[in-house]
Order: sequence, then C-alpha cells, then structure tokens
Amino acid sequence: MLKDKIEQALNDQIRIEAESSQIYLAMASWAETEGLGGAAQFLYRHSDEERMHMLKIVQYVNERGGKAIIPALSAPEKNYKSLTNLFQTLLSHEIMVSGEINNLVEICLNEKDYTTHNFMQWYVAEQIEEEALARTIMDKLRMIGEDKGGLYLFDRDIESISIAQNTTQK
Ligand code: FEO
Repeated sequence: MLKDKIEQALNDQIRIEAESSQIYLAMASWAETEGLGGAAQFLYRHSDEERMHMLKIVQYVNERGGKAIIPALSAPEKNYKSLTNLFQTLLSHEIMVSGEINNLVEICLNEKDYTTHNFMQWYVAEQIEEEALARTIMDKLRMIGEDKGGLYLFDRDIESISIAQNTTQK
C-alpha cells in the first residue's frame, strides 16, 4: 500500500508527464505547419514517449493500491519563434522534469518506500538520456545558426533520431 505522501507525489508526476506529452504534441504540430517534417516526426514520437512515461506511473500507482488521477491539462504554447527557440524550451522543460524526478526520489527515501524508489530509477536514467539528447540538438542548432541549408539537413537527420535508441530499457 502506498503512503499518502508518495501517492500524491506520484500523481503530481503523472500530471507533469501528461503536460510534457501535450507540450511536445503542440511543438510537433507547429513544426509540421512550418514545413519542418523531420522535427515534427521527432516531436510526435517524443510526445508518445511522454505519454508512455505517464502510463507507467498510472499503472504503478493502481497496482500498489493507490488511485491514479488523470489530470486536466492547460493548453500548451502553440507558437515558437524558431526551431532553436523550440528546442531551448524543450531542454528547459526537461531540466525542470529532472528536478521533479529528483524530488520524488528524495521523498521515497524520506518515507522509506524503497519499492517506489526502485521504480523511479528508470526515470532517473531516462532523464539523463533526454537531457543529453536535447543538449546535443541545441549544440547542432547553434552551429547551424541562420544557415538554411544546414537547417534543411538538420530537419532531415532528426527524423531518424529517437530518445528510445539511447535508453537501455523501455
Ligand atoms: Fe518523461 Fe521527458 O520526461
């Protein structure tokens, strides 16, 4: 049985993962309408992965005798100044998520819930991969700058990049 404090913290994380999925879906749609088909595919996949992150916690909470709450979500940002601006937002968002995961891990230790602590290790590893990938993408975009040819190649290449490739288990 989950302690109330852990159940609350996990439900907060369900909301964060759901919001992430929603934000990346809006980003994907923006990229698609800007003619950035490769980036759009990458972001649609990223949105799906966040939904999977959410689902894993929903099922974990329910399996442990808690009650997962499916939250209402606010409308995500629909406009971005550029692809660089979009990925900078994505990186900042992932850094925020990593902080929240770390807080959750700390709550697990304080509450001596070692099962949930163990469950959360997958998310700790996943955040390292996601942040590293977002930083790599930002480095590439900074290098490209205003170069349209570079942006064309970037958009073509990012289509085949997936966070899932970098993670050991899904
Ligand atoms: Fe599931 Fe990107 O945090």
